[in-house]
Amino acid sequence: MRYLILSDIHANREALSAVLSFVRRKHWDKAVFLGDLVGYGANPNQTVDMVRKLKPLVAIRGNHDKVCSGIEEGELFNRVALQAAMWTRGKLTPSNLRWLRSLPEGPMIVDGEFAISHGTPIDEDAYIFGEIEALNVFRQTSFPLCFFGHSHFPVMFGLTPDAIHTVLSVAPSFRFKLRPGARYLINPGSIGQPRDGNPLASFALYDSDSRTVSIHRVPYHVEQAQSKILQAGLPRPLADRLALGR
Ligand SMILES: [Fe+2]
Repeated sequence: MRYLILSDIHANREALSAVLSFVRRKHWDKAVFLGDLVGYGANPNQTVDMVRKLKPLVAIRGNHDKVCSGIEEGELFNRVALQAAMWTRGKLTPSNLRWLRSLPEGPMIVDGEFAISHGTPIDEDAYIFGEIEALNVFRQTSFPLCFFGHSHFPVMFGLTPDAIHTVLSVAPSFRFKLRPGARYLINPGSIGQPRDGNPLASFALYDSDSRTVSIHRVPYHVEQAQSKILQAGLPRPLADRLALGR
């Protein structure tokens, strides 16, 4: 099976459109979404509609999906994130609000092949930035392979009996074959708001037969996404950071 792994779209229609047209030429069997479909960007309904049309689809919720759909009130959000979440809540159609509210909490096992989580498989709101957090997750779980999001940073952590390894790809297209006996925590990066200093939309494909993960970076109309954010009256830093990838 070939899985299309998508995360942290954040209502960025331009970025999601670019990724979906990029994969139109590629073969995939199932879309897997790791949470944060909305929040920050100016096209929440359009991006929810686009993801709802992906079939077959497995999806879990992210922290922004919870606040934007009213499951939580965002007490821990910063001012900019909260302002965007409340704007999004007011814009979502009743159908899309209901759909977002129905997204399950991770972790979830997909086809008996791998796990998915938004933050970590222990706490959907917690981050995995580096090897210490990754090691803690490896020790408290037993998943051989887990895809996660939330940090907006494409990265792979591999655990062997001897050590933990980090693979940080900076290539526009990067392939990695999973080693037998090793365990992995893999972030495909963010489609709608990358934070690794590279503004290109980031996503992954996973081939469970060859056990190969590829992470792809795709250019999109950043200026268009930025001008929509400003036209919507959303905070300027949300537009500025798209060009910086931070
Ligand atoms: Fe996010």
